[in-house]
Amino acid sequence: MKVGIIGLGFVGLSLAAFLSSKNVQVTGIDIDKTKIQTIQKGIPPFYEQNLQQYLKKAIKTGLKLKTEISNDVFSNDFIFITVSTPINKHNEIDLDYLKTAIRSLNKKLQFAKKTPTIIIKSTVVPGTTIQTIKPMLEGNSFRESTDFNLLTNPEFLREGSAIKDTRSPHVVIVGGNDAKSRKKLVEFYKKIYSKNQNYVETNTTTAEMIKYANNAFLATKITFINSMANICQKIPDTNVDDVAKVMGMDPRISRLFLNAGPGFGGSCFPKDLQALITYSKNIGYSPKLLETVQDCNNQQVDSVIKLLKKNIKNLRNKKIGILGLAFKENTNDIRESVSINLIKKLLREKCIVNVHDPKALKNVKKIFKNKLVYFDEYKQIFHHSDCAILMTPWNEYKKINPNMIKQLHYKILIDTRRILKNSNKDGLISLGIGV
Ligand code: UDX
Repeated sequence: MKVGIIGLGFVGLSLAAFLSSKNVQVTGIDIDKTKIQTIQKGIPPFYEQNLQQYLKKAIKTGLKLKTEISNDVFSNDFIFITVSTPINKHNEIDLDYLKTAIRSLNKKLQFAKKTPTIIIKSTVVPGTTIQTIKPMLEGNSFRESTDFNLLTNPEFLREGSAIKDTRSPHVVIVGGNDAKSRKKLVEFYKKIYSKNQNYVETNTTTAEMIKYANNAFLATKITFINSMANICQKIPDTNVDDVAKVMGMDPRISRLFLNAGPGFGGSCFPKDLQALITYSKNIGYSPKLLETVQDCNNQQVDSVIKLLKKNIKNLRNKKIGILGLAFKENTNDIRESVSINLIKKLLREKCIVNVHDPKALKNVKKIFKNKLVYFDEYKQIFHHSDCAILMTPWNEYKKINPNMIKQLHYKILIDTRRILKNSNKDGLISLGIGV
């Protein structure tokens, strides 16, 4: 089997590396020349567990890399499109990268020797594939089914476990209006995945909607537990983690995504929620619930500031240590990271901000330059700060102990993820939201 993958971000590169490991002949295409050069050396352009080892093997076993879509692109059995679909200044989904890819594919259709299958994996608002992509591919008198097949196949992988999720997704959704071409893709996946893999076939637009509904629900679930945490914060002797634990025992709910914290971030939830809100309004429905989720999430960082101010009255010139800058653990991605938002607020309060992250320091330096004090070792944060805030639940932070907290001038650590045992013995306080 031969597969082309256009767009080598988290989704595209993980897919390319994984399919190569299954002896699929893969050609990865990305317009970013520097990125392609890095990948060619077997180095992923971002940190992702296990990806490097998969990639190195893939390069050795013949993963091809290109910076443009060539005339022979349709010698591939499947062409996956995994370019990013960010939000534009009108808060709508930006389809520019996708349209550029589709335009090039349309130009190459004349060279196709068999009917190619084009698969949209990028997250797109419902209707995009049928209303925008299909007419573009049909330019120059090409027709769906005769000259190309078009499917949607939304991706659910998470950063930090991209390879694991690509290797065994909880479900594979194949959206398409033609049952024959859907079957072709399902058959391809069946050769790659284990026997008990779940598949759902549906129409093109429903598949697009499923991805948004999924992410919007998870964002809502996190926001719900964050609201419970904020209420618990006001009630002495309540503990949001016990609340979540017992709620999770209800099979109708499940414990996953009930970890209260400083709010969700990352390249997906905030963007997808925004895209769905704008799209929904544009088609005549005002999604009040989703807007509230968005507002609550934007405000959640203020709960951290409030807790800080409750303990340190005047923040001016106070040295505040931030432990964790990535939007979640096991990634160096700082897109929409709540830590970045918190740092901006602390700088406005004239704090001196000390920061540490095992992987994301370099990315943060690009934004804040000399406005922050950077530490390579998390332990140094305690020595140099008046108070510290744990923002990202990295494993190494679980080793934080009372002796470290003791070094902080105020002897207070705010543990927004509650990964440490709460203790206020000997005047050392680790505080969490919701406990
Ligand atoms: C998400 C979706 O999970 C994935 O299916 C989709 O393909 C892309 O978007 P990702 O952004 O990589 O994945 O990370 P995820 O693990 O979902 O976490 C998103 C944010 O929510 C992080 O900031 C995380 O810290 C936060 N979160 C998650 C919580 O605050 N509490 C939780 O219980 C879970």
